[in-house]
Amino acid sequence: MKISIIGGTGYVGLITGLGLAVHDHDVICMDGDSRKLNKLNNGELPIFEESLPELLKEATDRNKVVFTNNIKTAVRESDIIMIAVGTPESKNGDTDMSQLILALKLVAGFMNNYKTIVIKSTVPVGTCAMARMIIKDNLNHPMIPFDVVSNPEFLREGNAVRDFLKPDRIVVGVDTPESEGVMKELYSTFDAPLIFTDTRSSEMVKYACNAYLATRISFINEISEISEKVNADIHAILQGMKLDKRIGSHYLNPGPGFGGPCLAKDLKSLINFAGKANADLPLLKAVLERNGLQIKSITDYIMSELKDVGSKKIAVLGLSFKAGTNDTRNSPAIHLLEKLADTKTTIHVYDPVVKNLEEPLHSRVTFPENIEDTIKDADCLIVMTEWPEFKELELKAVYNMMKTPLIVDTRNIFAPDKAHNLGFQYKGIGIADSLYKNIDVPLKNII
Ligand code: UDX
Repeated sequence: MKISIIGGTGYVGLITGLGLAVHDHDVICMDGDSRKLNKLNNGELPIFEESLPELLKEATDRNKVVFTNNIKTAVRESDIIMIAVGTPESKNGDTDMSQLILALKLVAGFMNNYKTIVIKSTVPVGTCAMARMIIKDNLNHPMIPFDVVSNPEFLREGNAVRDFLKPDRIVVGVDTPESEGVMKELYSTFDAPLIFTDTRSSEMVKYACNAYLATRISFINEISEISEKVNADIHAILQGMKLDKRIGSHYLNPGPGFGGPCLAKDLKSLINFAGKANADLPLLKAVLERNGLQIKSITDYIMSELKDVGSKKIAVLGLSFKAGTNDTRNSPAIHLLEKLADTKTTIHVYDPVVKNLEEPLHSRVTFPENIEDTIKDADCLIVMTEWPEFKELELKAVYNMMKTPLIVDTRNIFAPDKAHNLGFQYKGIGIADSLYKNIDVPLKNII
């Protein structure tokens, strides 16, 4: 099939385009970003993502993809036009639809025959209906037929290529049999359940999934706070939970709160548009509130443990919002650094792939060449991202490098008992620093 991706060099657009190209479709990745287009036309990638270099090579070797800024060609030479432009968060938490609306108007202006317009961007419920009106109002020839389809993506950064090529399911929202036929053919070579529903329900699937994932994280972070307060062990708690098939073992890792460009943005957008539909949302609002508490409680702990913080050195391991990506958008590590930056403390940071930060933070911290120089003489070591190389650190060696053996492990990558036995003051998420100190903390007013 002939497909064009508008916003074809962005995260979702590029991976979708290349993924469809290696499934033998003829793909035009169209974008206005000439820097990214030049990179791609030189065989380079504008984003860091596992397996993407191989995917780009396969798609270009097979002449199945072209990169262009020519939207007229992209529209005219394609039967399916996928819109994968950014729908970032606007100031009030709503979804900023400006790029999407502009793309729809431009596409409509160049349409010359029947087209299937596929919305791939994450958009509030009702956007397909709005898109139909925008296209109708901007067609050059009012009688040109078209359909608008919803086709949300569920790509995770760090796993995006795998998630696209081996999806758990493919969700498609259609309102006509013609467009259902087109989408069936498009995904006919994918080995995954193909779910067809109406466009509104399909748009809602994306929000429901991200809201549920965020809820799992905030839930386990709240249980972790209780675990610390009652001097229990979150590892044991999780073991008991995960074996319950109704709960499952995935996506229940306590941590510094969910970050990244999607979960918080989509949750705020959902709360906004559902609120406008008069839905009460106490749970979803609480999920966001809990998430905000994580970095606050971590910072408060560090401040309370590091007396006279201005004369201390803090080592921070990990800057990206999770392992496997160089993305620092809405990263908990950045939120922590912004709080620490207000103090006079010396801050050394290390991340295997993130070597720069936006100003003023970049100038406020130091980027030693390696982990050892980052940890050396530190009064506190804070683990913010669960990179595998941090897990391999030899705790004894870390102990000998540090000035004050205090570890704040927001990803629970180290064994608490081992850390304590080596003489560290160790604090995990759901692991109080009193655990394994063989001291029984009397629980006031409880027993
Ligand atoms: C997410 C959704 O997973 C994906 O389906 C959707 O398409 C886009 O948003 P992504 O943002 O790449 O993907 O990251 P994800 O792996 O979901 O992690 C999000 C945040 O939650 C990260 O900060 C991560 O560290 C945190 N997280 C994740 C936890 O704290 N605990 C967990 O168990 C899982």
